[in-house]
Amino acid sequence: MSRIDDLMGRMTLAEKLGQLTMTAAGYTVTGPVIAGDSTDSIRDGTLGNLLNLVGPGPVGEMQRIAVEQSRLGIPLLIGLDIIHGHRTLFPIPLAEAGLFDPQTWERTAREAAREAAADGLAMTFAPMLDLSRDPRWGRTAEGPGEDPWLCVQMAGAKVRGFQGADLSRADALAGVAKHFCAYGEVTAGREYAAVDISERRLRECHLPGFAAAVQAGVAAVMPAFTDLAGIPMTAHRALLRDTLRDELGFGGVIVSDYNAIAELLRHGVAADLPDAAALALAAGVDIDMMSEAYRRGLPVALERGTATMARIDEAVRRVLRLKEALGLFDDPYRRGSQAESSGVLAERRALARSVAARAVVLLRNERETLPLAPGIRRLALIGPLADAPGEMRGPWWAAGVAEGHVSVLAGLRDGLPGVTILHAEGTPIDGPQLDGIAPAAALCAQADAVILCLGEAAVMSGEAASRTDPDLPGQQRALALAVIAAARAQRLPVIAIVFSGRPLLVSWLAERVDALLAAWFLGAEAGNALADLLSGRISPSGRTPISWPRSMGQVPLHYAQRPTGRPADSGDKFTSKYLDSPNDPLYPFGFGLGYGRFRYSGLRVTPDTAGAGTPLHVSVEVHNEGSRGAEETVFLFLHDPVASVSRPLLELKGTGKIHLEPGATGTVHMTLPAAELCFLGPDLQPVFEPGEIEILVGPCADRGHLLARRVRLEGPGAPHAPS
Ligand code: NOJ
Repeated sequence: MSRIDDLMGRMTLAEKLGQLTMTAAGYTVTGPVIAGDSTDSIRDGTLGNLLNLVGPGPVGEMQRIAVEQSRLGIPLLIGLDIIHGHRTLFPIPLAEAGLFDPQTWERTAREAAREAAADGLAMTFAPMLDLSRDPRWGRTAEGPGEDPWLCVQMAGAKVRGFQGADLSRADALAGVAKHFCAYGEVTAGREYAAVDISERRLRECHLPGFAAAVQAGVAAVMPAFTDLAGIPMTAHRALLRDTLRDELGFGGVIVSDYNAIAELLRHGVAADLPDAAALALAAGVDIDMMSEAYRRGLPVALERGTATMARIDEAVRRVLRLKEALGLFDDPYRRGSQAESSGVLAERRALARSVAARAVVLLRNERETLPLAPGIRRLALIGPLADAPGEMRGPWWAAGVAEGHVSVLAGLRDGLPGVTILHAEGTPIDGPQLDGIAPAAALCAQADAVILCLGEAAVMSGEAASRTDPDLPGQQRALALAVIAAARAQRLPVIAIVFSGRPLLVSWLAERVDALLAAWFLGAEAGNALADLLSGRISPSGRTPISWPRSMGQVPLHYAQRPTGRPADSGDKFTSKYLDSPNDPLYPFGFGLGYGRFRYSGLRVTPDTAGAGTPLHVSVEVHNEGSRGAEETVFLFLHDPVASVSRPLLELKGTGKIHLEPGATGTVHMTLPAAELCFLGPDLQPVFEPGEIEILVGPCADRGHLLARRVRLEGPGAPHAPS
């Protein structure tokens, strides 16, 4: 008899429900504080899983109670949100997405997993795979940006990184793909608000990332807090059972979000806790995080006949299988048993520094203001984010403490030898104080160049951090305008570094400064990474994974829009446009400058006639016309001009990278897999339609900068004919 069969035969109902329950310990607060002390429940076998407990000591202590003092000795599963690093913080996921580099995504996840596992953890509630096309939504910071193809690449890489090749290894974590599904579509960007989108949008944009995570073997999935067209995801039988389990083939654990089962009452689909528990169980949710709905509600639901023992057993088996796969039965203390060496920690910091430098997006660089000219000896470093080490962490700092993060001030003092840094905060991140502005502006009189460090506080993005007007908060605009005016009077170059968990509304700033950097939140090594970029030791190579709107009125804004029957035409009133704004974003998806300057030519696509099942080989010549070596990211888009379903104006299908020294030319080769030539037809089934398609290649999702070639697709699919 297998270990799991044996346990199943011996467990009481209360013990089974304990395996379906996850309760927070007090280490860190990631939701409303609900639970009390769980020790007694662990001892009596009625609590099988914990979140928010960290460190070999506390984890080992709780594990010992479960394994040595509970009747059946079933080990605990302990998880934490490790969204962009555990103790060593990496750039936020949105920033990392802009690397367009699966190897690095995998590596940072691997390092985070090693570090977290050394702290006793076995599960992380990541990766977060929610597309966002609305910067009002604070959780934009946690995800991959606006594009489904990018999300798919990141999903696979992150799952491989967290879980490693073998889940039972002492340095592997179970990943949790979240939040299933379409959470990023909350109404008007307001956190936790209702979602109502088409099945096509769901299938084209939001499911592919989860399908990729499932394919990569993700151990668990977390349903979103939100509903979809009136059915909360925590109770969405069709999406959780039919789509996720049956269609995508997911056999792992579904863990609810924090208190989400109890919240079914407020959603208005359950009358009481037993009702909520029955709905979630029927939908396929295995673990109840923080609702107490399964422990308290399922016994009543069983009596009422709204839940069955078979469903409970099914869920318990899945949880036990995951514990077994994690190696917890064989050695519950394997994680957290060995401290990491100082060498490993130093290498991880070095990785954090290089990833941070690569994640920064250079949005503007007039007259090659950056890198800083050698003649600059005195820098005025102004703004509330200049000396804010704690803010560099970003919105999810897991076990990262406030200390030990390198501020811009510290990074520049260390990393720009021979340059004197004059520093003033000017104004707090938020709040009405204006009195620091004049002294800050006065620093310009003593400086050769000015760097403004502006942006949001870390807690202004992430969960429960929606903003209707994501401009610079507080008096930062007043500060920036005063400093820019003072700098102009001295003819000083002005560089603005903007920290944020989302695109900010900065067109007013962009048009006034010489250089603009989107630094997102860069993590532990933020200041050092920025020094590497400003000094020119590294050329910026981040590309924005999300469009930057000119104003909130353009939102939701993304590059892969469908055509309209009346495309914008400035000479024709009755076309699709605004009276008071251009349609295009301030910065398009994929945009980012470097210290090189690249010219594209010679786009080749072979074969020029392709059947279903034929991959396309795409190559393009890239020439660095600039005076510095740099890395270029090349984007490969597809457009299908005539199809049975109107196709987006551009769809990302691949990327390539090349590093070129000044004056050098190189060829970038990319492959478009045959499956990418199919799309979801009128019945939402994949279809290959003969006819002409366009392949477009270039530096970002701006048609004006793309080279294009046509390719003919031929049978056996049915050519599109009007019926
Ligand atoms: C709520 C968040 O939505 C989710 O992403 C997170 O994993 C849980 N809290 C646990 O902290």
